[in-house]
Amino acid sequence: MFYRNAWYAGARDEEVGRALYATSLLGERVVLYRTQQGEPVALEDACPHRKLPLSMGRLQEDAIECGYHGLTFHSSGRCIRVPGSARIPPTLGVRSYPAVSRHGLIWLWMGEAHRADPSTIMAVEYEADPRWGRGRGGVMTVDCGYLFLTDNLLDPSHVAWVHPTSFGDAQTGAMPVQVTTSTEAVVASRWMYDVEVAPFYAPLVGFQGRADRLQHYEVRYPSHALIRSVFCPAGSGGPDRPLHPLAMRMDSYNFLTPIDEHRTRYFWFQTRNFAPRDEAVSAQMDEAVRQIFEEDRRILAAVDAGCSAAQTAHVDLAIDRAPLLFRRRLAQLIAAQQETAVAGAD
Ligand SMILES: [Fe+2]
Repeated sequence: MFYRNAWYAGARDEEVGRALYATSLLGERVVLYRTQQGEPVALEDACPHRKLPLSMGRLQEDAIECGYHGLTFHSSGRCIRVPGSARIPPTLGVRSYPAVSRHGLIWLWMGEAHRADPSTIMAVEYEADPRWGRGRGGVMTVDCGYLFLTDNLLDPSHVAWVHPTSFGDAQTGAMPVQVTTSTEAVVASRWMYDVEVAPFYAPLVGFQGRADRLQHYEVRYPSHALIRSVFCPAGSGGPDRPLHPLAMRMDSYNFLTPIDEHRTRYFWFQTRNFAPRDEAVSAQMDEAVRQIFEEDRRILAAVDAGCSAAQTAHVDLAIDRAPLLFRRRLAQLIAAQQETAVAGAD
């Protein structure tokens, strides 16, 4: 089950142009393209005649022509041509999804179209601040249900075992995590004091010696995460203290789009409060992060397969508190949405 009334990242901006781009979100096949003006379009990827994917057809100006019998659909989804038929039934068409380009991604609204408000797309802090830099980020398909990824992104401790040579090290395993909840998100965070700078960050921090480190893991409903990392000189960190002038901060934006129950498209990029226009730093961070996320991909695909094939019950640990709170609240939101949909259909 998925939460439908939300914006999901459907593609990276550069993936979609004047060629037809087929994808799947929330178990639905969707075709993406851009109009001649560059506006993104998202339509149900199935001709109503014999359900050939429209992505196997071709663009005719801003409309899409089915590759089987030439039925043609306006970017609104309405059918505007049926070869051989003088009359087109007014209800003939395919579903269209609200689509918006933002943060270098194309966002799709998979629920009730009249509720789609682009101002509710997750904001990126400091996006316009010239002192902040941003990498290009990336995308990968992970062979696991998206809730295994929300688990992962609410679990600061996994870096000790999954990423021991980059985000984590021997110190990052056992420290307790504070969990807070709101109507929008669950946050699992911890300050660690007087620690070594973990290997991934060591070349990025602008001070010498040991550090205080913040891990802020926040997942917003239904499946968008902000992972904030701060390193500041040892003795200067802690909650509610102003950020030290030499503090390094990296914000990792992670957008999870369910393809189906067992596959997820994972989009990400990082912003940083240093080296704002340094393309070499961006490229180096992008490459390192991709390799680190490959470590998650391998583990989470095996976790999903393991849970699907389980012969015995799994157990939960103290570190699962934030992931389980998130899952429970999201399940309530999905159930409430189902009830509303059923009531609306009555
Ligand atoms: Fe990870």
